[in-house]
Amino acid sequence: MCGIVGYSGPHNSVGPIIEGLSRLEYRGYDSAGICLKINGELQILKKEGKLENLKELITGQKPTSHTGIGHTRWATHGAVTTDNAHPHGNDLYAVVHNGIIENAAALKKDLMLEGFGFKSQTDSEVFLVLLTKFHKLGLSTLQSISRAFSTITGNSAFVIMEKASDKLYAVKRSAPLVVGENKELREAFVSSDPFALVGFAPKIYFPQDGVICEGVPTAGDVSLNFYELDLSPSSRYKFQTNSMALDATSKGPYEHYMLKEIHEQASLIDKLAAYYIKNEGRKVLDGLSGFSSDEWHVTACGTAWHAGLVIKNFFEQINRQRATVDIASEFRYRNPILRNKEIGLFISQSGETADTLACQELCKENGIPTYAIVNVEGSTLFRNADKNFLIHAGVEIGVASTKAFTLMALTGYLMSRAMEKTLDDPSLFGEMKLLSARIADLCANSEPIRAVAELIYTKKGFIFTGRGKYFPIAFEGALKLKEIAYVHAEGYAAGELKHGPIALIDENLVNIAIVGPELLEKTVSNVEEVKARRGLIVVVGPKDNSELEDLADAYIGLDFEGLPNLSPLYVNVALQFLAYHIAKLKGTDIDKPRNLAKSVTVE
Ligand code: G6P
Repeated sequence: MCGIVGYSGPHNSVGPIIEGLSRLEYRGYDSAGICLKINGELQILKKEGKLENLKELITGQKPTSHTGIGHTRWATHGAVTTDNAHPHGNDLYAVVHNGIIENAAALKKDLMLEGFGFKSQTDSEVFLVLLTKFHKLGLSTLQSISRAFSTITGNSAFVIMEKASDKLYAVKRSAPLVVGENKELREAFVSSDPFALVGFAPKIYFPQDGVICEGVPTAGDVSLNFYELDLSPSSRYKFQTNSMALDATSKGPYEHYMLKEIHEQASLIDKLAAYYIKNEGRKVLDGLSGFSSDEWHVTACGTAWHAGLVIKNFFEQINRQRATVDIASEFRYRNPILRNKEIGLFISQSGETADTLACQELCKENGIPTYAIVNVEGSTLFRNADKNFLIHAGVEIGVASTKAFTLMALTGYLMSRAMEKTLDDPSLFGEMKLLSARIADLCANSEPIRAVAELIYTKKGFIFTGRGKYFPIAFEGALKLKEIAYVHAEGYAAGELKHGPIALIDENLVNIAIVGPELLEKTVSNVEEVKARRGLIVVVGPKDNSELEDLADAYIGLDFEGLPNLSPLYVNVALQFLAYHIAKLKGTDIDKPRNLAKSVTVE
């Protein structure tokens, strides 16, 4: 979603801003813009489409500016046009925004009645106009920001620059925001993501909601000031040194980040095992030994929700502990029953997904502990959780999540095993090793899956089916395919097919049937039902099963042996390859699929 980068200091701001924005490109956006101060005037350059378009504009003008703010926009209010791109500015202020102003329509109406004009259809411009209005009433910039921020509702982060000084201002409510400084170079930074500031700002600060940040470069120094909305000094921010690494930004020998990230999974599983199961014997999931919750309330969005469904099976089957799994945007509005001794478990790659964060808040308000399975250390979810289980996936650039899914589910598995009263750690370590070896083998021999993709990529629809532990994988396989290949795909419980979706079956529809060794006969009967209706069948099943191979139009044989708990994750990697190859044959933008955002920071 929207990316923000701001700079103020003695050097040209264009370089760090554009570099920062390109690091955030993977999050998804549809236009980009920058505001620079040139000869004392605020100058805005913006363009719909890719960052390349903005870069071309900049190259033509070769601007130098000591202060600037840049933005990549993922449209919410108003179409994808250059006018709607950020920054929005006038002769006083320029503003970039991430989030939604919920009362924008009413405010805009009032402001127009008061005689203010608007240049865009965005909600964001309302904030600019409010600032301008308060300034014209004689308020200082800090006072105007405070008043404007208190007037709007909804979750948002704003970064503001002004004609009158080289200061940067920022404020947020339930949206990601980080400010940073490089004392040596006397530079102040602001961004929606610390990743944009790696190598620029060694010291970073995460302000809490309603804290106004002010970056002030002076001749010999730079200072960051924090204020409450009443403009008294604030200490409601967290300081951290920026320890993120940039190595993830290279694709290495791979054509796409997604392919790279699929291949990384085997070694990341080894690392996760080494991290959580120290010395092949001493588990380090502190505090979970013999642990029990009356009920786990698992909430997440997208792929992370599918990981939650996998984890629910672990908690129920291995620990016999109750777990409900909700889509975060549903959980938060359904007045869930939350009781003592229950735990909210939140799963998120980014740790910034707005709906997931809202569920965490809801659980906190109801006094139940919040645990997080999360990738980004220091993210909002991480900072607000009572207990964190990091998945150690490194930066995931592909918008369609692959390695994060596997590592989220595995982290949940390790939690589940750690809760067992008697746990055989060496055997757990061996199981993880076996999974990583099988995945490595699949990565080295994925050509047969590419051949299957070639056979089916022109078909109009895909139904992924699975039973039991493979049911969530049917969801995830379908989601991956629709995300990157832009075809209709849905996941279904194999036994449910005959209760409706079977009406769709004809020679243009493909059934990707996951047939694990458990409930094999029952799942095979479901495949037969599709076959009888001339549907095309791809079976992902146990290798060397000639009966199944004969039944299927195409067969992806996998070695399920020794993976009674973890085979769903192995099957899922095969489906990641299948989605990847189908998308490649269709020629889509695999790493940055249309309309999608990596991190969804609006509700
Ligand atoms: C977006 C992404 C998905 C992701 C979901 C949840 O929709 O495109 O890939 O699964 O958000 O993101 P999170 O960061 O909370 O895991």
